[in-house]
Amino acid sequence: MKYGIICAMEEEIRLLLSDMTDCTVTEIAHRAFTHGTLYGKEVVLVQSRIGKVASASTATTLIDRFAPDCVIFCGTAGGVAPSLHVGDVVIGDKLVQHDFDCGVPERIFEIPLLGIKYFKTDASLNQALVNAVKNYINDEMRNDIPDRYLKEFGIQSPAVHTGTIASGDQFICDNEKNQWLYTHVNDLACVEMEGAAVAQVCYEFDVPCAVVRVISDSANDDSNVDFARFVEEAACHFTRGTMKAFLTAQK
Ligand code: ADE
Repeated sequence: MKYGIICAMEEEIRLLLSDMTDCTVTEIAHRAFTHGTLYGKEVVLVQSRIGKVASASTATTLIDRFAPDCVIFCGTAGGVAPSLHVGDVVIGDKLVQHDFDCGVPERIFEIPLLGIKYFKTDASLNQALVNAVKNYINDEMRNDIPDRYLKEFGIQSPAVHTGTIASGDQFICDNEKNQWLYTHVNDLACVEMEGAAVAQVCYEFDVPCAVVRVISDSANDDSNVDFARFVEEAACHFTRGTMKAFLTAQK
């Protein structure tokens, strides 16, 4: 089994990269694809950079050139559902491009010709990721992230949620947009800028995919400040901890 793993940002990927062994790095189109061993499993790890085009092109190269058996996207998201708090983790059961609009109101979000609004992720990957996140939160999280940061971000006992993740080429930091998204997207949990693009590429290649996101901010008027601090001090630990628990538990 070969796992394709994508993160958008350097801060999110750096600890995973430092844990990889037997590495071969291949540069394609300004992306470094690192093929090697991570926690005992064969992995190709790559930083996509930010946004739907960057992540779709990265996922396409990853699948076409390295033929992973599945693709997992890890990173941060802004929580929109009122039940979400900073430090909670969302596993996306479906992904939608919230900025896709061809001008026909009842078809908002629908991808022309595919006729799909919501791309489903792989149920068994999702279940394994839910277990991995729970293990990380209960075991290693407090060793990795110093108490002062947990206090600063208001993280006590993070919860794991499953729901819709909406992606668009916008950092959402506005109360009005936040409310619009919550009203228009079915079962919306959180927003980010890559997942649905990767889910569409995986759908078209028929490769199972999953998206796991730790909540860094509340996608409202305060988001810019929270986000930078959180990514710097906490996101990399959540990403590594989750992927370590996930890959270690895989056969
Ligand atoms: N990633 C993390 N927080 C986000 C936000 N508020 N909007 C879009 N992408 C994000």
